[in-house]
Amino acid sequence: MDKSLTTLLFSCTLLISLCVPSLAQTCGNYTFSGNRSYSTCNDLPQLSCSLHWNYHPSNLTADIAFRKSGASTSNWISWALNPSRQAMAGSQALVAYQHPNGSILAYTTQLNKNPNMQPGKLSFDVPSIAAEFSSNGDMIIFATLQLTDSLRLTNQVWQEGPMNGGNPGEHPTNGQNGKSMGTVDFINGSVTTTGGTTSKQRKRNVHGVLNAVSWGILMPVGIIIARYLKVFKSAGPAWFYLHVMCQTSGYAVGIAGWATGIKLGSESPGISYDTHRNLGMIIFALGTLQVFTSTSLFFFLLA
Ligand code: HEM
Ligand SMILES: *[C@@H]1O[C@H](CO)[C@@H](O)[C@H](O)[C@H]1NC(C)=O
Ligand SMILES: *[C@@H]1O[C@H](CO)[C@@H](O)[C@H](O)[C@H]1NC(C)=O
Ligand SMILES: *[C@@H]1O[C@H](CO)[C@@H](O)[C@H](O)[C@H]1NC(C)=O
Ligand SMILES: *[C@@H]1O[C@H](CO)[C@@H](O)[C@H](O)[C@H]1NC(C)=O
Ligand SMILES: *[C@@H]1O[C@H](CO)[C@@H](O)[C@H](O)[C@H]1NC(C)=O
Repeated sequence: MDKSLTTLLFSCTLLISLCVPSLAQTCGNYTFSGNRSYSTCNDLPQLSCSLHWNYHPSNLTADIAFRKSGASTSNWISWALNPSRQAMAGSQALVAYQHPNGSILAYTTQLNKNPNMQPGKLSFDVPSIAAEFSSNGDMIIFATLQLTDSLRLTNQVWQEGPMNGGNPGEHPTNGQNGKSMGTVDFINGSVTTTGGTTSKQRKRNVHGVLNAVSWGILMPVGIIIARYLKVFKSAGPAWFYLHVMCQTSGYAVGIAGWATGIKLGSESPGISYDTHRNLGMIIFALGTLQVFTSTSLFFFLLA
């Protein structure tokens, strides 16, 4: 019995711990070749890319690494700043691809509405640029950017497209390829995007995950334990402890989920999701009532 007790105990806590770290950035512990390291990074929400950088306030330079994981040698990759708006046209781009002779080329090019991808100078200096195809299949562009005051917080776009007879060909414009835009803040390090995960969206995800784990998993598991494990005499009082554990941890997670919901609501004044909020309140109230009545009943029977 001891074994199954610990197993169930573990699955209860595992469920919670599994769901939480999946919301964290994974770019942070990526190790680059050649002793390169970057203090800040952000997972970009489309095309499995990340941006890593060191910003030097003294001379307004940023050493960056743009990484596309799971890259293909028959594709080009590109990352760009767009000082004017969140779109391709007007972007100041860094491009990299594998030349038919095997070497990895990296250069800068300005993008207009119909880019020709020919090397050219950008609106700001790029003192160094290089690219590599890493052993684990990532394509990475390394560059130093000479920023200006206004470029420290600006728009970024990134893209991937096919090589076409040795030259970069047109990329798809639907799906993720049409949404690979955002902003980059070289000083404060937060990337918010239109297409991807904003901090608000992240809070919404946390709210959803917490509530799903609580009311959707832990509480029902606790009920199932009480209902079905009880019948096994050999299980002794273990079912009860398991039941109590699942219900209390479920309820605790539920409170957290409810609180994040309240916080979210207070952060969007003027917008209310009435049915959603009322349902949430009812579920929370019923859950609270249930937890309190059964706890007091237990102590009453004990006395
Ligand atoms: C062969 C060169 C390229 C061609 C022919 C091309 C063509 C296009 C076209 C036709 C669109 C749709 C525009 C619209 O719907 O108004 C588009 C969108 C886009 N392109 Fe490109 N592109 C090229 C290179 C690049 C590069 C190097 C980047 C690098 C960042 C890029 C990033 C984007 C992004 C983020 C969008 C979606 C946002 C927007 O519509 O402006 N493109 N591209
Ligand atoms: C980052 O580290 C965590 C554990 O610390 C590991 O699970 C994860 O796979 C690592 N990610 C990468 C991209 O190396
Ligand atoms: C990395 O750093 C170590 C010690 O700091 C040095 O011995 C080594 O040569 C460096 N490797 C490269 C590729 O620069
Ligand atoms: C800018 O400053 C950093 C650190 O202060 C330094 O390592 C770097 O070489 C400088 N870059 C330029 C282009 O002056
Ligand atoms: C491959 O071609 C590029 C562009 O023409 C050239 O710069 C590079 O040196 C070539 N690399 C090799 C290994 O031939
Ligand atoms: C970075 O954050 C500080 C303090 O929160 C703020 O004053 C500053 O304007 C921010 N910088 C940029 C470029 O957003």
